[in-house]
Amino acid sequence: MPLEVLQFPDPRLERKSEPVEDVDDELRELAREMIQVMYDEPGIGLAAPQVDRPIRMVVMDTDWSEEGQDKNPVVMLNPEIVSRDGKIVWEEGCLSVPDFSAEVERAGHVVVKYQNLEGEEITEDVTGLRAVCFQHEIDHLDGILFIDRISRLRRSLYVKRRKKQLRLEEEPASLGS
Ligand code: NI
Repeated sequence: MPLEVLQFPDPRLERKSEPVEDVDDELRELAREMIQVMYDEPGIGLAAPQVDRPIRMVVMDTDWSEEGQDKNPVVMLNPEIVSRDGKIVWEEGCLSVPDFSAEVERAGHVVVKYQNLEGEEITEDVTGLRAVCFQHEIDHLDGILFIDRISRLRRSLYVKRRKKQLRLEEEPASLGS
């Protein structure tokens, strides 16, 4: 069955995910499927809890764009930010937050540590979009969405709009009558 990307306000997006202990074939297959979903959607990052697997795994490809051909997906297990400094404001969107984007302030420079599927410990020192993406995806593992990091007013306007949209989807018959 193809993976389904959960969408706000699905409460499963608010769960805190568990560390990955073992790499087995099932996990490798999940990583492959998540990469496919990321490219299909399209997106530049996807966290396992977004596809209803509450484990600390993220796939990311910040070099890729819809037009570009170079694909360089990275699978990260148990990623954590070991240091952060500076400041960056980036217009963010999310596959789990339909029809919305907003400027979010985050650390402009982070050092991130994670394991890959081969069990190696990787450290990345990143800025710009890649720093933003790491922080956004690691937030997913802790049940946090980017709309939790914008002003309360902007968030509540989005929530209102989203709920209205969902109501309309539920009652298609009321539209034409
Ligand atoms: Ni996201």
